[in-house]
Amino acid sequence: MVLVLTDRLELRPPLERDRARFVGLFQDDDFMVFSGGVCSIEDAHARYDQMLCNAAEVSFAKQPVIESATGTIIGYSGVAWFEFEGQSRLEYGYRLVPEARGYGYATEAGRALLALAGETFHGELLAMVDPTNLPSQNVIAKLGFTFWKQALVDGWLDNLYRRALP
Ligand SMILES: CC(C)(COP(=O)(O)OP(=O)(O)OC[C@H]1O[C@@H](n2cnc3c(N)ncnc32)[C@H](O)[C@@H]1OP(=O)(O)O)[C@@H](O)C(=O)NCCC(=O)NCCS
Repeated sequence: MVLVLTDRLELRPPLERDRARFVGLFQDDDFMVFSGGVCSIEDAHARYDQMLCNAAEVSFAKQPVIESATGTIIGYSGVAWFEFEGQSRLEYGYRLVPEARGYGYATEAGRALLALAGETFHGELLAMVDPTNLPSQNVIAKLGFTFWKQALVDGWLDNLYRRALP
């Protein structure tokens, strides 16, 4: 298991024991803001199953972001697969509980995981951000992604960003 430590955070692959926390978060309106909406309990479990599968394949897949001082899972950061323009692509994403926003945690977690990604992955990562989501546009720029274009993804108009690794 790859453990990534930053000044204030711990990142590691998701484990079965984290399921209840994430299933709860995926059903929470505040946590799921700027997404396709909250999950039903079945969809939340399926989404967590997918997170476990992706993490078994890719070391920098979406994973728990843990606040070291409290040991609390405050969100996730990392990549997931998605279909775009007929190809399977890796998309970088992050999401924090409201009380953990505004401390620079998304940037700190993202920089650490992208450094890990750069050791094993050669290619391009994408990111999708709602054009009205300014905090996320700020994060994605700090993570070194540049604006590519706007596109419809699953019926939603998104700003697409990209970054080459290493
Ligand atoms: C988008 C989101 C992940 C941003 O998380 P975040 O941790 O607040 O973002 P940042 O890392 O940019 O930190 C925000 C601010 O914290 C402040 N901050 C406070 N203490 C800090 C520290 N020690 N180090 C760095 N920044 C700090 C900074 O002012 C920073 O903003 P700035 O770069 O403009 O100065 C979060 O708002 C969120 O989860 N939103 C809902 C879900 C969502 O939109 N996800 C993205 C979908 S595309």
